[in-house]
Amino acid sequence: MQTLEVDLGDRSYPIYIGSGLLDNPGLITPHIHGNQVLIVTNETVAPLYLARVEAVCSAYQCDVVVLPDGEAFKTLESVNSIFDALLNARHNRTTTLVALGGGVVGDITGFAAACYQRGVNFIQIPTTLLSQVDSSVGGKTGVNHAMGKNMIGAFHQPQCVIADTETLKTLPERELRAGFAEVIKYGLICDGEFFDWLEMNYDSVLSCNMAALAYTIERSCRNKSQVVALDERESGIRAILNLGHTFGHAIETAQGYGNWLHGEAVAAGMVMAADLSARLGWISVADAQRSRALIERAGLPALPPKNMTSQQFIDLMSVDKKVIDGALRLVLLTAIGDAVISSDFETQALLDTFTAGDQLCA
Ligand SMILES: NC(=O)c1ccc[n+]([C@@H]2O[C@H](COP(=O)([O-])OP(=O)(O)OC[C@H]3O[C@@H](n4cnc5c(N)ncnc54)[C@H](O)[C@@H]3O)[C@@H](O)[C@H]2O)c1
Ligand SMILES: [Zn+2]
Repeated sequence: MQTLEVDLGDRSYPIYIGSGLLDNPGLITPHIHGNQVLIVTNETVAPLYLARVEAVCSAYQCDVVVLPDGEAFKTLESVNSIFDALLNARHNRTTTLVALGGGVVGDITGFAAACYQRGVNFIQIPTTLLSQVDSSVGGKTGVNHAMGKNMIGAFHQPQCVIADTETLKTLPERELRAGFAEVIKYGLICDGEFFDWLEMNYDSVLSCNMAALAYTIERSCRNKSQVVALDERESGIRAILNLGHTFGHAIETAQGYGNWLHGEAVAAGMVMAADLSARLGWISVADAQRSRALIERAGLPALPPKNMTSQQFIDLMSVDKKVIDGALRLVLLTAIGDAVISSDFETQALLDTFTAGDQLCA
């Protein structure tokens, strides 16, 4: 097992990474401070892993909420059903919420924990690659609103994160690849050496070699926690974690949530960001091609949907949370392993990226 510390002063917490950690009582119980626990999971994950987590919490008053599966249920209604369960079972301010599942369960549970009685403790047990390398770390919690994804939320850091690599064995392969897009992201934005490693080892990771997965998760979490430690509330540098996301969110919205997985849309979005960076002369064409090549070899989409027009991209990207005072700010690359946030680019170059089609990064 490896342990990483997210360094956030009095909100610091450990991330445990390894195989078979899910029901290791020595990891979870030191982070439960009262005598009540509420485990939140969903109907897909519950039959796989709930009993084991319940077993390690058996010394406490342990209640459970099983949500329906899917991004469509990342809503205030789900948060409310957690409040109902907490109040019905008389949970007090010392209760601990445990999020067992992917990013959807983690985001909902973290937000419920941030709000219940003005904030109670919570523990993340992420069970998808995306949630192990990204969403469980950093304290962003929240739900969707009919008018926008992740529009209601709070910053609320967990007590600890327990990433059990064994749980990825039951994850559908498409979900594993989608999570891998966020892994490639860390290589591109801040860790060129890791990008080199991924070029050599993507196959072992995607075939669930446990050692390769553990290394990937550890290095990804280390990168993310370093960025978060510099800028917990995203007033600056933290936004580099959104490489490819402004393009990607436009793709997700245009295609309808669920048709393209988040990681798939981000993959195509990162190719677009690399293409634009090369057009601006900030990275070499060779580096842009390397970015696209790894995404393709990982079995991820490297091109946006053929039916999307420039106008659709412009309209959808202009509602992005990174738009400040009307200027579109994008995360762009200055090297493999180095990113900047900038609105200082010619619109024509962006339009060329939208219309490049198969020639992206060429
Ligand atoms: N808070 C953040 O910083 C942050 C960062 C990135 C993404 N997110 C959010 O994360 C969400 C996406 O997370 P996700 O990709 O984990 O999706 P998800 O939570 O929907 O999980 C994907 C699918 O895998 C299933 N599943 C989970 N674990 C499994 C397992 N071990 N075996 C079999 N099936 C399993 C789930 O039930 C679901 O059907 C989005 O809502 C996104 O907005 C948040
Ligand atoms: Zn993402």
